[in-house]
Amino acid sequence: MLRLVVLISGGGSNLRALLEASEDAEFPARVVAIGADRDADGLAHAEEFGIPSFVVPFGAYPTREAWGEALVEQIRQWEADLVILSGFMRLLPPTAVHALAPNLLNTHPAYLPEFPGAHAVRDALAEGATQTGASVIVVDDGVDSGPIVVQERVPIHPGDSEAAVHDRIKLVERRLLVETVLGIANGDIDLRDLA
Ligand code: GRF
Repeated sequence: MLRLVVLISGGGSNLRALLEASEDAEFPARVVAIGADRDADGLAHAEEFGIPSFVVPFGAYPTREAWGEALVEQIRQWEADLVILSGFMRLLPPTAVHALAPNLLNTHPAYLPEFPGAHAVRDALAEGATQTGASVIVVDDGVDSGPIVVQERVPIHPGDSEAAVHDRIKLVERRLLVETVLGIANGDIDLRDLA
């Protein structure tokens, strides 16, 4: 059974997809803890599913490195096989990335390397793109620059709002995330080959 720690900053809908998948006794992974960098709305999912959670507030530490160290220490307590950044809106310091890699995944609402960064959906619309996508990547030291595990195209329709496109992407992100976890658990995906 693969032990997952999921880190969130927002609503945690991708996290919820993993929690729901884990309810199936056949699913070979379990979320053992949920972490956040703030008092994220998505922590309510932790409560609902009875999963322990922890918050390591970014502002409570003097440096990004100190914050990253505290975060890694929390994660280590859960003996996670895989850490998933799922709408986690903070860059981890390189020390934290190296402590966790390659078993550290991120989901991103674009077809990387297109539109990296925190405003991927807005950037795609601003460019007049007719398609974007969803990607699951291994985290490295850069911004959304790590090896791509899986990705899929998502169309943008004329007149689409940012929210409409993001919702369409998130449906794909959730499926890709669950499929990726499944692939890692059953050995079809080896993150060491990618990193
Ligand atoms: C996802 O699109 C994720 O890729 C992006 O933020 C969104 C998180 O959504 N970085 P949620 O918090 O899982 O609902």
